[in-house]
Amino acid sequence: MTERLEANDAGIARAAALLRAGGLVAFGTETVYGLGADATSDVAVARIFAAKERPRFNPLISHFPDAESAFAEAAPDELARRLAERFWPGPLTLVLPRRPGCTISDLAAAGLPSVAVRVPRGAVTTALLRAVGRPVAAPSANLSGKVSPSDAYHVLRGLSGRIDAVLDSGPCPVGVESTVLDLTGDSPVLLRPGGVTVEALAEICGPVSHPDDYADTLPAAPGRLASHYAPGLTVRLDATEVAPDEALLAFGPALPGGGLTWNLSPEGHLDEAASRLFAGLRFLDSEGARRGLTRIAAMPIPRTGLGLAIRDRLRRAASPRPG
Ligand code: TXA
Ligand code: MG
Repeated sequence: MTERLEANDAGIARAAALLRAGGLVAFGTETVYGLGADATSDVAVARIFAAKERPRFNPLISHFPDAESAFAEAAPDELARRLAERFWPGPLTLVLPRRPGCTISDLAAAGLPSVAVRVPRGAVTTALLRAVGRPVAAPSANLSGKVSPSDAYHVLRGLSGRIDAVLDSGPCPVGVESTVLDLTGDSPVLLRPGGVTVEALAEICGPVSHPDDYADTLPAAPGRLASHYAPGLTVRLDATEVAPDEALLAFGPALPGGGLTWNLSPEGHLDEAASRLFAGLRFLDSEGARRGLTRIAAMPIPRTGLGLAIRDRLRRAASPRPG
């Protein structure tokens, strides 16, 4: 039985107690819902991979209530401190060297000498992490290969019966996962575009190396898709017209001739589009399949600001990776 906990003192206390006892608790952050477990426990972390049916042991992000507790586990350089000062709490994950005595389990870190740490934004999230008093490992709270959850209902649709509880703090305001920045090398490397834009990072870091466009890779063949993302409509990026067998993911004024449509932002605001992305994909996928459609035509999204993260997630929706 999966408990749905209210985001009040009692709910937060219950969620923290379950996590401290090695349980699995999904919780809202500003980005997406995370599937949390005690990051210091290999046994608890292993339950995350089992609940998600995640085929590989990818390294997970550890979550903290503040920079001080994060930097007790991971060793920041000067740049990491400045980034934390500017963007925490907020949707930025830093990959840093482990400190000697780091308590994060080898399974959460996938045996790497580095760890990914993040201080999410949100009063309920912070209160929960403070109450747990240990690093909390949390990938997105969805079955592997499915769309990330941006509200508690999405979590329960995928994971009810597989996890101990979900702490319902309402919909996630940012809507795409955190930006992951690797600071272990000579210069910062963007591993995943996300809620903090590269333009904002550049104000602190200078230029950040990253592929020009995370969405340039071709979508996977439909056959490969079926096993990951059933019923699995494929996604076609940068669509300038819409075919009769396509659902439309619009951005700005919708293309003419679209039937089933979800508009990410009629006025073309990228922050609104990010916050409505995963709910839209879920809707078009299930309703489109019900209507016998075969594809989602996604209108062009700019390659700037949050557009980079949106394009990356659309490409992954066409070619889902585990997790
Ligand atoms: O917004 C988010 O980041 C959400 C919420 C729940 O906080 N979490 C999330 O976690 O998206 P997950 O596990 O789906 O993403 C972890 C990312 C992966 O791309 C992983 O490869 C990278 O972080 N990562 C974790 N540890 C790493 C490490 N030591 N070195 C390089 N990459 C690492
Ligand atoms: Mg994920």
